[in-house]
Amino acid sequence: MSHHITFPGYTIESNHAKLVVNMPWELRQALLFVHIVLAIIWVGGILFIGWGAFPAVRKMTFVRQRDVLQALMQWSHKFLTGSGVGVIMSGILLGTVFGPIDQWRNLWKTRYGHIWLAALIIGAVTLLWGLFIGYRQSLKVLAHVELWQQADSGDKKPLLNDLTKVALFESVEVIGFMALIVLMVLF
Ligand code: HEM
Repeated sequence: MSHHITFPGYTIESNHAKLVVNMPWELRQALLFVHIVLAIIWVGGILFIGWGAFPAVRKMTFVRQRDVLQALMQWSHKFLTGSGVGVIMSGILLGTVFGPIDQWRNLWKTRYGHIWLAALIIGAVTLLWGLFIGYRQSLKVLAHVELWQQADSGDKKPLLNDLTKVALFESVEVIGFMALIVLMVLF
């Protein structure tokens, strides 16, 4: 009597090689669902702050804009970080435990392995950039109350300079997201 449970496996074609995956398909699809939902929250959440919240508060006084944006960013930070970590971890599982990468060879020698490795690196760099450069820089500008008061009393230039820098830093993250989505389509 065997104690091994073998699941009905499935195969993935890459470089005309059949990569066999010995995991239940339904479990993999459930994880893929989680992966996609978390990715929607991560990418959508960040784009909504940049393209939704920042422009939407522009009619308020600068001091009030600062209050709203600071509260919004501090509140959403933990969820955005958590979903980013979740996307990367589910992506690692989807490619390895629930996917065809079970030896180093498959990582280096197959198209699937190359796409996965690129996604892993770009995903990690995008998350770390967001945490340690994008978020920190934004909070630094938001914490600088005098800058916003100065803008309310007519001198907007120093604040707008800083906000332009924030937008430029954030665009690195947007480029990372776009690259990731292209890679996901290429799989
Ligand atoms: C912007 C972030 C991301 C988005 C929007 C995203 C979205 C998606 C979507 C829609 C799929 C299903 C499409 C398909 O199977 O061809 C998928 C699959 C997958 N994703 Fe991601 N993903 C993201 C980041 C990542 C990262 C960082 C990794 C890390 C390695 C990753 C690894 C995978 C893997 C392994 C699959 C399964 C591919 C397969 O075997 O068919 N994803 N992702």
